[in-house]
Amino acid sequence: MEKMNDLKALLAHEVQDLISVEDQIIEAMPAMIAKAQNGELKKALEQHLSVTEKQRTRLDEVQKLVNGGASEENKGFLSGLFGAITGGEKCKGMEGIISEGEKIMRADMDVDVKDAAIIACAQKIEHYEICGYGTARAYAMELGLKEAESLLRQTLDEEYFADNLLTRLAYSGINEDAETTDETKAGGAAAKSNNAPKKAAAKKKVEPKKAATPNINKAAAKAENGKAASKKVAAKTSAPKKASGKK
Ligand SMILES: [Fe+2]
Repeated sequence: MEKMNDLKALLAHEVQDLISVEDQIIEAMPAMIAKAQNGELKKALEQHLSVTEKQRTRLDEVQKLVNGGASEENKGFLSGLFGAITGGEKCKGMEGIISEGEKIMRADMDVDVKDAAIIACAQKIEHYEICGYGTARAYAMELGLKEAESLLRQTLDEEYFADNLLTRLAYSGINEDAETTDETKAGGAAAKSNNAPKKAAAKKKVEPKKAATPNINKAAAKAENGKAASKKVAAKTSAPKKASGKK
């Protein structure tokens, strides 16, 4: 990995990481969709795959903006698969999350339980993305890269939407369905509806969160402008804070 001396270099690294993240998700999602049994869950995943493909294209634009229009070698799907060969690094974080998800989805489990597990896997992916996009957006904002910041915010909002939708699906019946064992199901629907006291379904309405106000590292931005040098850049997440990164 090349030395990163300023916030812009860190942003470029973060964008490259997100490119690998999206490529891996696009590759992994069809299997997840195929395993989902709940119709609403399947539909939500299919829609998010379509959104993810657009996000991937958007990242190419962000990369150009960050690099001042310079073309990149590592474009498209191949960068995710052969990143190590072409120069871009494969995101090990997302690789691990997907690998863990594939492992649990291979496990022998009831279809309702599998749907609950798929939601968990998908939300782990979403949370990683929310962290990455929130951070990249904060850096772009600090650097005054308005167009890049706008594109990153657009994707960040989509990730929050997808995460909230998955939460709603979990609360609106999928987790509850997973509570019921195969034995109970064999006892018949009557037993379920008449004898087994149904827990009050926690059908909470979850409003999409607003995109987090980015945390900003002013020191790194100054280095970008040549005003300060050799300060180490602390990569922070998008947790909303007032500009507190001054050191
Ligand atoms: Fe995404």
